[in-house]
Order: sequence, then structure tokens, then C-alpha cells
Amino acid sequence: MINRHPKAGVIGWPIEHSLSPYIHRFWLEQYSIEGQYLPIAVKPNNLENFLRGLLENDWCGVNITLPHKRAAMKIVDDIDSNAQRVGAINTIIVQKDGSLKGTNTDGHGFLNNLRDYQPTWDAKGGPVVVLGAGGAARSIVAALIDSGSPEVRLVNRSRGKAERLSDDLNGRIKVYNWSDRSKVLVDARLLVNTTSLGMLGQPPLTIDLNNLPEHAIVNDIVYTPITTDLLRNAQKREIKTVDGLGMLLHQACFGFSAWYGVDPGVSISLRTHILNMMKN
Ligand code: ATR
Repeated sequence: MINRHPKAGVIGWPIEHSLSPYIHRFWLEQYSIEGQYLPIAVKPNNLENFLRGLLENDWCGVNITLPHKRAAMKIVDDIDSNAQRVGAINTIIVQKDGSLKGTNTDGHGFLNNLRDYQPTWDAKGGPVVVLGAGGAARSIVAALIDSGSPEVRLVNRSRGKAERLSDDLNGRIKVYNWSDRSKVLVDARLLVNTTSLGMLGQPPLTIDLNNLPEHAIVNDIVYTPITTDLLRNAQKREIKTVDGLGMLLHQACFGFSAWYGVDPGVSISLRTHILNMMKN
């Protein structure tokens, strides 16, 4: 245990919709830890001030959500190589010497969730198609390359953004036009949607899954709704699917473990708890 009543939280602007407090408080209760996890609204112009005061105000660290994930990088003292490459941090740990260490746990969260649901999935087993080239795509593509994906086919509406991602990550990435999203599914082992399409209130994701092999897996990182049209269409073809909630739960494990000294794990009861919170 780092201190008797470790205090952590999540900062963003706005912050009301964050599910992180429900996740961390579930674990605090599960492990009978007398810690706190607080949602804090921090305006962009107050970010530096807030982060510089973490040690003084007795925080052991924070999660970072929109719009601070990039800006926070310039403020912390140390950033691990993965977050450096991805270009964003989502977790800060106050180190023993008082310095702030930034990391990005999204890629690991994505992979751990995928392996949790589909343990036989092997990154080296074949090409992956990733839709989208935003922040989430960066973490996921980096994690896929690091785990040995032979080819990542990156498809984005704005081609230039996908090209920049490909240049930055410098791996086995091929960039395709958005209009090719159905064609590039041939031979793919995994399809990942990282765009906001299919999310409640957003336009639908239109894609023809007929080219996707039966042994492929479809992973949507959208979790509102839990079963997106993309996942439903894959299931109709008896293709295995992975929903987006697990990534959110898995990415939270690292911070919890660093702040409170317990590796929490993602259980069915945590998932059920968060699904219930989402209904309210
Ligand atoms: P995140 O950090 O969650 O990845 P983001 O950086 O806003 O969010 O990225 C959103 C992704 O959804 C982008 O790839 C975006 O495509 P553009 O780069 O072309 O903007 C994609 N997206 C959003 N609306 C879309 C739409 N109507 N059609 C196709 N792609 C869309």
C-alpha cells in the first residue's frame, strides 16, 4: 500500500459522464481499501496548475480524459516510451520522489480484453483491419504492431490522418481509403472499429462483412450501445465478437494497481455493475 488512504481520480472537462469512478470504487470496495477515487472537472487553462499540485494535495495519481490527454504530456516529468509513441497519456502516477510519470494504458487494455474474450486469438495469425485513425486507433495500432501483427490495414475517412499515424508508428501498416473498408476485409483475422460511428447519437457504420472470413473476430470499441449494429451483423454471420466495455475496464487496471497496490482484475460482477450504472 502506498499510503493509508490513497487518493486518485479522473480529470476531464466535462467529467460527469466518466464511468471511471464506478470502476475504481467497485474495486476499492471489493478489496476493502480505504482509498478515494474522485471525478474532478479541470478546465484546460487550469490543467498545469492542477497537475503541479498533485503531490502537495496528496494525490497518488489521476486518470486523464478528454480534452487533456495530449496537453498533459507537456506537463508531466516523465513519459514511458509507449505513451510517447502514441502521443497521449491517460494515467499519471505520482512517483516516490514526487515526480509525475505519464503512461497510456489503452493499448494494453484493448489487447487484454481481446485475449480475455478470445484466448485463441494470436496477433501473428493474420492481417488486422482498423477503422479510424484518432487517439484510440493510435494506442490500438501500436499495441497490435508490438504484439507481432504481420499487417495492419488502416482505413480512415481522412486519409492524411491515417498516413500520419502510419508514419509516426513506423510499423507494418498499410493505409486505405475509407471507400475500401469492405474490400480490405479479405483474409483479415480481426476487424476493429475505433471510429465513433455506430455510437448512440452518431451516424451508423456502414460496412459489408461478406469478405470477412468466418474465423475472424470483430471488436467494436464503441460501448454505447453494448451490442452495436456492427457486432450484431457479425454475429448473424456467426463471427466471434468483442464489445467495447471490456477495453474500458481493462485499461483501468494499471492505474488501480499503481495507486492502491492491488492488481484488481476484470470480473463478471464488475462488468454487470458498470452495465447497471450505464442504464441509470
Ligand atoms: P478517439 O480519440 O476516440 O479515437 P477521435 O480522435 O475524434 O476520437 O477519432 C474519431 C474517429 O472517428 C476518426 O478516425 C474519425 O475520422 P476522421 O479522422 O476522418 O475525422 C472517425 N469518424 C468520425 N465520424 C466519422 C464519419 N461520419 N465517417 C467516417 N469516420 C468518422
